[in-house]
Amino acid sequence: MLRIRHLDAYYGDVQVLFDMDVTVGKGELVSIIGPNSAGKSTLLKSVLGLVKAGRNHDGGGIFLDGLDLKGMNTEKIIDQGIAIVPEGASVFPEMSVYDNLYLGGYTRPEQIKEMMKQVFGMFPRIEERLTQKAKTLSGGERQMLCIGRALMSSPKLILFDEPSLGLQPSIVLQIFQHIKRIHETGVAILLVEQNVFQTLAITERTYVLEHGRVALEGRSEDLIDDDYIKKSYLAI
Ligand SMILES: Nc1ncnc2c1ncn2[C@@H]1O[C@H](COP(=O)(O)OP(=O)(O)O)[C@@H](O)[C@H]1O
Ligand SMILES: [Mg+2]
Repeated sequence: MLRIRHLDAYYGDVQVLFDMDVTVGKGELVSIIGPNSAGKSTLLKSVLGLVKAGRNHDGGGIFLDGLDLKGMNTEKIIDQGIAIVPEGASVFPEMSVYDNLYLGGYTRPEQIKEMMKQVFGMFPRIEERLTQKAKTLSGGERQMLCIGRALMSSPKLILFDEPSLGLQPSIVLQIFQHIKRIHETGVAILLVEQNVFQTLAITERTYVLEHGRVALEGRSEDLIDDDYIKKSYLAI
C-alpha cells in the first residue's frame, strides 16, 4: 500500500531524514516509535507532501499502491485515500464539531451522511456535542473528533501523529482501542507514538527512528522482548 524508499528530507539546508525505507501493507497496523526530534512527524509530513523529499537517490520516493506521490500537492495526496490525525489533536477551534467533521468529508460529499453515521457509532460522545465549538471539547474528545474527521474521507490509510500525547492514561487506553478497531475494519494505519509499550502491544510491525534514520525494525511482539528497546525505551 504505502512504500517509502530511500527518503531524504530537509528543512532548508538541514537534513532531518536519511535514506529511510518504510512500508505499510494493505490493512496493516504499523508503528513508528522514537524520541523527540527523531523525525517522526517529518516522515508523516513527507507522505502528505508538506515537506519536500530529497531527490538524490535512484528509485527513491513515496508510493501509494504503486502511484508515485512525488510532485502532487497535499490535497491531491489526500484525495488518493490518505488521512491524518495530526499532532496535538488540532481541530478548527472556532468551528462547530459538526463543521469539523463535515470538512473531513469534503472529498467524498456523496458519502457524508453515511460516514457521519459510522463516526457517531464509534464516538457517541461526539454526536452529543455536534453544535459545540470544537475548542470547548476536552482533550480526549478533541482527539476523538480528529479521528472522526479522518474517517470522514473513508481513507485506505490513516497516519496518526502521537495521538496519546497529553491525555490521561484511561483516555489513552480508549484511543488505542479505537485505533485497533479502525484497523479491524480493514484500514491501513501508520501510528507514530512515544508511548512505546502500548504501541508495541497493539501494532503488527514497528520501526524505531533515531536521528532521522531507521535504527531498528521488526515484528512488534519481537521488539517487546528486544534488549535494545528495553534499555532505551522501557527503562527496564
Ligand atoms: N518546520 C521546521 N523547520 C526547521 N526544522 C524543523 C521543522 N520541523 C522540525 N524540524 C526539525 O527536524 C527534526 C525532526 O523533527 P520532527 O520530525 O518534528 O521530530 P519528531 O516528530 O520525531 O519529534 C528536529 O530536529 C526538528 O527540530
Ligand atoms: Mg512529532
